[in-house]
Amino acid sequence: MLSYTLIIVLQSLWLMLPAYIANSSAVIFGGGKPIDFGRSIKGERILGDGKTWLGLIGGIVSGTFIGSIQVLSLNYYPNELFPNFYPYDNRSSISYISLLIIFTFGALFGDIVKSFFKRRAGIERGAKLPIIDQLDFVLGALLFSYIFFDSWFIKNFTAYHIISIIIITPFLHKAVNIIGYKIGKKTVPW
Ligand code: CTP
Ligand code: MG
Repeated sequence: MLSYTLIIVLQSLWLMLPAYIANSSAVIFGGGKPIDFGRSIKGERILGDGKTWLGLIGGIVSGTFIGSIQVLSLNYYPNELFPNFYPYDNRSSISYISLLIIFTFGALFGDIVKSFFKRRAGIERGAKLPIIDQLDFVLGALLFSYIFFDSWFIKNFTAYHIISIIIITPFLHKAVNIIGYKIGKKTVPW
């Protein structure tokens, strides 16, 4: 039982790693031109200064890079235990890169959609929105891969994986944000 749970957790972390990397790299690479170019709707920024082009692109590139390493190291870990990023029925390098781009873009898009609704609700940039701040990118990555690579998604993510991801991610998120704050990459520790 314990080992079964452990395998689910490890598989979940492995599958989500490109999205985790994308989300945390956005903090590292972020800065410069905001995605909304500073525009507002009804006096509130569309997205705010916390969503930048460099963060978006840096996140996609970093997450796709790490995912590619996961795919290329395929022969060095137990394949039956760890899923990979080849969409089923198409094992070309283009197919796994497109899956990873969709997966990491979905993660950052989830985060952007959240900021859009935060601003509409009058919540300022950087203000806490517990649970949603931690799961926005998970939902984005899962939704986008489900829409564009449904057979890969269904084969890899069982309900157990999704539940474990939802439980583990907020803790990971918190730990990473505290580190980001300590190294001066985040202005607040959440
Ligand atoms: N970031 C970025 N571009 C993105 C996503 C994140 O530049 N597409 C950077 C920003 O510097 C941002 C930081 O990562 O401040 C943390 O991201 P997040 O917590 O999602 O943004 P917040 O600043 O909290 O803004 P919001 O209230 O809109 O979530
Ligand atoms: Mg935030």
